[in-house]
Amino acid sequence: MKFFVDTANLEDIQKAYKIGVLSGVTTNPSLVAKERIKFENRIAEICQLVPDIESVSAEVTPNAVMADEMIAEAEELIKINNGDKKITIKLPMTLQGLEACRYLTKKGVKTNVTLIFTVNQALLAARAGATYVSPFLGRLDDISEDGVQLVTKIAELFHLQKIDSQIIAASVRHPDHVTRVALAGANIATIPFNVIEQISRHPLTDQGIDKFAADWKKVSQ
Ligand code: G3P
Repeated sequence: MKFFVDTANLEDIQKAYKIGVLSGVTTNPSLVAKERIKFENRIAEICQLVPDIESVSAEVTPNAVMADEMIAEAEELIKINNGDKKITIKLPMTLQGLEACRYLTKKGVKTNVTLIFTVNQALLAARAGATYVSPFLGRLDDISEDGVQLVTKIAELFHLQKIDSQIIAASVRHPDHVTRVALAGANIATIPFNVIEQISRHPLTDQGIDKFAADWKKVSQ
């Protein structure tokens, strides 16, 4: 499973990139709104900051409801950073979003169909040609459903039917989600940087480092 970072914050993207684990970045209107910056400029900045990653998701705005409106926005987004091939158009899981997905896929543009909450939605998105499908597990957990179970089922189905759309486990909130979606067969987990930090740690690692330091101090004295 690869790691994408789920943020529009440059510092967090840079931190994940520096430690060598970053394969992509996902953004959405809520994450961009937090940053109070011009959306297109931030996508360009991200592309320049992390040039050699596989994907930077830029979502069509909530103003684009019809397929032609989504396509018009996508056509502007794919021009960013001189037509950077990393730019992946994120589309909502609606019939209009699927229509836009099919159109963009045929044009060779990478797509990420987002806000997926059922296996059937994932199958439709894959058949419309989505490069990535994004099930939101945390939000299913919020309503007492099993988000990881959804990722497991989508992974089983894609394997069974030889579908090559990649599964991005999204709305990943904590370390246990990360382990469980990796075991479930997600191709990618997109996670906030604080969760990357959390999964890098263990109290015994810290204790071990302290003990090595204390013992080393005795030797050097
Ligand atoms: O990748 C989707 C993510 O940004 C949503 O996360 O925690 O708002 O459900 P959350």
